[in-house]
Amino acid sequence: MKVNIKNHTMMYPAPAVVASAYDEDGNADACTLAFATMCSHHPPAVMIAINSTLKRKTLKSILHTKEFCVGFPSAEHMAEVDYLGIETGYNADKLAKVNFNHHKAEKVNAPIIDEFKVSVECKVMHIAEVGSHTQITGEIVNVQAEEEVLDDKNKIVFEKLDPLVYDDITHSYFKAGEKIDDAFKPGIKFR
Ligand SMILES: Cc1cc2nc3c(=O)[nH]c(=O)nc-3n(C[C@H](O)[C@H](O)[C@H](O)COP(=O)(O)O)c2cc1C
Repeated sequence: MKVNIKNHTMMYPAPAVVASAYDEDGNADACTLAFATMCSHHPPAVMIAINSTLKRKTLKSILHTKEFCVGFPSAEHMAEVDYLGIETGYNADKLAKVNFNHHKAEKVNAPIIDEFKVSVECKVMHIAEVGSHTQITGEIVNVQAEEEVLDDKNKIVFEKLDPLVYDDITHSYFKAGEKIDDAFKPGIKFR
């Protein structure tokens, strides 16, 4: 039997990614985000949502430069990513604290975090205020990936990236599970 439970923001599975941008003085900001998803194929784009009521420093920086990167952490980065989500750049040089290195991205004026094996470089193409959050859509203008997570066709191998998964209901981190099938095939039998 189904029961009604408390209304809560949710999406399954949710990622834990890290958005990064430079502030007015050129310092690198970064914060952890679960509100992040792909949202357009042409052009390729991602959407992130940052709480605008709580004075996130990374939000201010993204709105200032209109450019940002999104890094896709692996499960091994869990503690560092958690810290980037519980401390504000107003209080600390967070990337230095977790010993993460960064450099200016190739196609945008935003920091790429070296430790993440995959990062996308984005230019802001749309901003919308939705409830408590500012939704920022970024056109992906470049993707950087470590060779170690690529196959021989330069495609990202999910298992090698081992992306960090987040559950907002229980505030927990998970590792992704194993592949169960190819997509666009198992449904063919119902056609
Ligand atoms: C797992 C996790 C997911 C988070 N997701 C979001 C999110 O989607 N949007 C948001 O505004 N804050 C989110 N946060 C909180 C911010 O990362 C946090 O407030 C951070 O300290 C902001 O840093 P800043 O002020 O340096 O930008 C999340 C934190 C954690 C730990």
